Amino acid sequence: MSNTNKKTFYITTPIYYPSGNLHIGHFYATTIAWVLKNYKKKMNYDVKFLTGSDEHGQKIEKKAKENNMEPQNYVDIQTDKFIQLWKKTKIDYDFFSRTTNIQHKEIVEKIFNKLLEKQLIYKDKYKGLYSINDEEFILETQAIKIDDQYYHPVSKHKLEIVEEESYFFKISKFSSWLVDYVEKNNNFIIPKTIWKELKNNFLNNNLEDLSVTRISFEWGIKVKKDPKHVIYVWLDALFNYISALGFDFENPKNDFVKYWKNGDEIVHLIGKEISRFHCIYWPIFLHALDIKLPTTILAHGWIITPEGKMSKSKGNVINPLDLLEKYDSEIIKYFFVSKLNIVKDGIFSEKLLLETYNADLVNTIGNLISRTISMIKQNFSKPIVFKDIDDDLNKNTLNLIVKSFENYKENLDNFRILESFECILNLARNLNKYIDLTMPWKLKDDLDKLSIILNILLNGCYAILAMIEIVCPDYVKEFKQIFNINEFDFEQINNFHKFDNIVVNENKIVFSKFKQ
Ligand code: MSP
Repeated sequence: MSNTNKKTFYITTPIYYPSGNLHIGHFYATTIAWVLKNYKKKMNYDVKFLTGSDEHGQKIEKKAKENNMEPQNYVDIQTDKFIQLWKKTKIDYDFFSRTTNIQHKEIVEKIFNKLLEKQLIYKDKYKGLYSINDEEFILETQAIKIDDQYYHPVSKHKLEIVEEESYFFKISKFSSWLVDYVEKNNNFIIPKTIWKELKNNFLNNNLEDLSVTRISFEWGIKVKKDPKHVIYVWLDALFNYISALGFDFENPKNDFVKYWKNGDEIVHLIGKEISRFHCIYWPIFLHALDIKLPTTILAHGWIITPEGKMSKSKGNVINPLDLLEKYDSEIIKYFFVSKLNIVKDGIFSEKLLLETYNADLVNTIGNLISRTISMIKQNFSKPIVFKDIDDDLNKNTLNLIVKSFENYKENLDNFRILESFECILNLARNLNKYIDLTMPWKLKDDLDKLSIILNILLNGCYAILAMIEIVCPDYVKEFKQIFNINEFDFEQINNFHKFDNIVVNENKIVFSKFKQ
């Protein structure tokens, strides 16, 4: 298929605050988006993947000051830590979006002006509560109050009382449009519980107009005509998703036209705690500017430890760099997507990580492949050709290969990642059972029968490796050498003749047992 006929898929992670310490949660979130990108690529989509850093705002300004640095210098150094992390974790992306990029800043200025022109922004006074840490305005009714001090209801950060001149965006004008839109577009927000919560907490409570500028600090994009005002960091940050593609009101760049305006699927992966910004403000901003909306906002839960949430005060925050010293990144990525249900909070521990690796990759998948390749090498020096035999067990096993792939796709197309990996493991378990039932080691004198079984196993292993490649491409690369093939293609899974002319190579242990 020519490149121009392919469907497009654009997926983004949140752009992370470079002031935060590297956290296993960053690695988790970015892995989910990266795996979905890899899946769509194998499904023959034209894909783009964005991650990046959110570099303006009061929090960053404060941190830079604490470190005696100019904010720009500070974010340059901090952002590099994320870039190095993605290198180490072998996560490749198409865009690393930084809100301090000149192109981004110009777009945000233009957007602000456009909203002013459209009279959707007006000047007034803001009086209320603000969390610098979350860069979030909080209603008094929602804040937690202890001894005259207010706290954020979820993150529990201290809130400041802010009283200053501010520009406001007429968000209330759009709340009924939003409710209508989300309820008509079933897959716009996943999971549905997120929408229910937002509706109860904000939309049913009269959405207040949103303060979109601050005057008490400097570090951000200034309002051109009124430069004591700095544009609210979330208004600035959200637009990175399109500024990186080259959005402009007139003459946008090709990437914006192709992957957004005329694009097929646009997915924002976000943590559940930032759903208010992505599911309320973002669609409203876009709608107000007559820009197309993304197709899906996929909110994931938190990664926690067996003892509960990670926090600086508990001292149990897992730094991904420490893990990467000990384990290959693909083992960790495999755990993230195969054992954690993204729409819930999920427990991570090194013990669980190792148990998963040994049980799934070493004992189930690795063992199946080793048994298959070794038996082939012991008994055949020529290719083994597929024969369509009318035998229930063989037919069912071939059907299972086809069905597993169908289920895997169905799950991934609906972002049920954990379930899709269950399909792979289930197939591997069943193929191991098939070996136990057919006992090929007893068929050395019946090479015809043996070749039928081993060919089915080869086809099964191929399907498993094609499916698992989206999370561990480097391990799968090693199997390409053993299987003597260039690619594990989705298109070839149902073609059982693919090994008819191939002599596989000697077996090699790819997933070796990890000892604690
Ligand atoms: N800068 C904003 C996002 C702007 S997007 C236009 C931001 N940055 S952040 O650095 O705080 O990153 C938050 C994201 O990191 C979460 O939404 C989540 O994807 C990821 N995680 C950080 N800690 C996490 C866990 N403990 N568990 C899972 N992911 C979490 O918010």
